[in-house]
Amino acid sequence: MLNKQIEFIRTRTDFIPEIALVLGSGLGELADEIDICCTVDYKDIPDFPVSTAPSHKGRFVFGKIEDKNVVIMQGRVHLYEGYSAQQAANPIRLMKQMGAQILFLTNASGGINSNFNIGDFMVINDHISSFVESPLVGRNDDTLGVRFPDMSEVYSKRLNSIIHSTAKDMNIDTKEGVYLQFRGPNFETPAEIRMAKILGADTVGMSTAIEAQAAKHCSFEVCGISLVTNLACGISKTPITSEEVTETAERVAPYFKKLIKASIGNF
Ligand code: HPA
Repeated sequence: MLNKQIEFIRTRTDFIPEIALVLGSGLGELADEIDICCTVDYKDIPDFPVSTAPSHKGRFVFGKIEDKNVVIMQGRVHLYEGYSAQQAANPIRLMKQMGAQILFLTNASGGINSNFNIGDFMVINDHISSFVESPLVGRNDDTLGVRFPDMSEVYSKRLNSIIHSTAKDMNIDTKEGVYLQFRGPNFETPAEIRMAKILGADTVGMSTAIEAQAAKHCSFEVCGISLVTNLACGISKTPITSEEVTETAERVAPYFKKLIKASIGNF
């Protein structure tokens, strides 16, 4: 399947990205603002999962950020759309086949850590993926990676320290912590958030961990930023809505976009 997909991409472009960037909810427009070389719609790629989530566009954008060749996923696929973890990991593996070596993941999340505020940027230093299916289940493709991959440093300390120092130079505050992925699509219950807190999660969301797992398996150097769009259920005084998530993401997007672009420049 990957072979067929990369062959198709190569009929459209010979662009070789260094960095792959996945844009989460409310951040998709960053891809429209870069120096674009070409785009490929997901729906045109053979057997490719197509995102149905609100505010997710569904295409690869190839271009330059700060002189670096990047491929951007403008929209990702989620487990809650009915896709398997393997399908959700497909785009990550395809971007590796395109030539990318660094994967930069972003997402919107609910804040659990009591030191976090709405609008905070949390550099992801680890994740908990145990509540969702692994994208590595099934026959292992030895050309991608080993059967039993090590997960002791999924998120690169090198890239994380570049993000923090870039943010500091820009007077942007950053936090750091553990992201927990649930399947969704419902937001969590207060009891689930209490559990997540006990387990050591700082933010919670419905993406990213399985993509990072697949990326580590195929030897990407991975980093990620989780944007706290709301306080998690039970911590928030009001019910959580997708409108609140999108509203916060849009409000802080200008800073988020600046930080992503500058960090990529410094990678
Ligand atoms: N829970 C799960 N996913 C999310 C949240 C949340 O509170 N906010 C944004 N994505």
